[in-house]
Amino acid sequence: MKIVSVVGARPQFIKASMLSKKLSGKFNEVLVHTGQHYDYGMSQVFFDELELREPDYNLGVGSGSHGWQTGNMLIKIEEVLLKEEPDFLLIYGDTNSTIAGALAAAKLKIPAAHVEAGLRSFTQIPEEINRVVSDHLSTLLFCPTRTALLNLKKEGISNGVHWVGDVMFDSLVYFSAKAGERGFLEKLSLKPKEYILITLHREENTDNSERLQEIVSSLVEIEETIVFPMHPRTLKVLTRMGWKDKIGRNVKIIEPVGYLDMILLEKEAKMILTDSGGVQKEAYMLGIPCVTLREETEWVETVEAGWNMIAGRRGEKIIQAAKNFKPAGERPDIFGKGNAAEKIAEVLWDYSTLIKGNKGS
Ligand code: UD1
Ligand code: UDP
Repeated sequence: MKIVSVVGARPQFIKASMLSKKLSGKFNEVLVHTGQHYDYGMSQVFFDELELREPDYNLGVGSGSHGWQTGNMLIKIEEVLLKEEPDFLLIYGDTNSTIAGALAAAKLKIPAAHVEAGLRSFTQIPEEINRVVSDHLSTLLFCPTRTALLNLKKEGISNGVHWVGDVMFDSLVYFSAKAGERGFLEKLSLKPKEYILITLHREENTDNSERLQEIVSSLVEIEETIVFPMHPRTLKVLTRMGWKDKIGRNVKIIEPVGYLDMILLEKEAKMILTDSGGVQKEAYMLGIPCVTLREETEWVETVEAGWNMIAGRRGEKIIQAAKNFKPAGERPDIFGKGNAAEKIAEVLWDYSTLIKGNKGS
């Protein structure tokens, strides 16, 4: 059985690294990198660190407007699918690489399996468009949370839906033991539990200058050491607006870091501020208080459990949250048991046996 897996953005390399390990030996997996992310620190570092083999195809699409980027990926993924003739396609999350894969496969009548299906923010952000369309085009849908399962049910999708837990929990469990050396903290002059970690990259924050300025200018008033591995999108906007050098001196801006160093930075932070989906989840998994710099989240269980506070983008609310948010209490296993990749591989295996049977009959 042949699977074509499509990845392209940083969190997808992390998710694929876990599933590829489980597919190997059972399936013939063809790994396609769309080239959506391409800087060393946004792409190759994850292949180097996470035991993920080099892609069979790098489509080299790169950056551009949504239509341009998605369209080019669609054309190039279609070429790969026509050449490889896989039994099914595997896609992850909610990026332009995901929707391009889903569309290319659907038009060629190749069934798609969507990992991280059913997430909803109920806003028209690009990621929501990508995941709704990808879910509706997929044959197998792997939900990381119970809420995701319910979201799909409300949209009339119940066939082929499986609750498996979150592959990002698998990767955190698997790679935690190898988390970056503590020397990395010393290199940055950081002391465990004496700094706040921030990540920020969502289009709705970076491409709205008023919001972005409000968020970054609030950081100085938090009056804590803050480490900021900066996504290139955010760096470009802040540099262009001339704001980068005006960010408070308590903020250490660094380049994006590899996953192992990121786990270390997260584990040792006293708090995390973020608009990232993956980082919100990891904060919860590691028991680090999280303040989300968005008006909503797809990961509602983390908020319900009391470990994630939705602060939005207003400076005063962010400052108050960073100074006062102190979660307490249990953290239920909302992301499963760390065996999501295993479960997905099993469902794929059963499904492939079914296809084989149908082809044979
Ligand atoms: C994408 C996903 C987002 C995900 C994020 C993970 C979409 C619509 N968005 O957002 O859901 O959370 O990846 O990080 O797919 N750039 C570089 N070097 C790179 C990559 C990007 O300089 O290696 C810069 C370019 O200026 C580019 C901008 O970052 O235009 C945005 O990159 P893009 O991949 O379009 O979107 P992300 O913001 O990374
Ligand atoms: N991450 C990383 N280095 C960084 C920032 C994030 O390795 O400098 C990891 C993070 O630990 C998480 C994933 O990237 O596993 C989240 O990706 P991102 O925030 O880019 O996207 P999102 O999850 O919002 O789609």
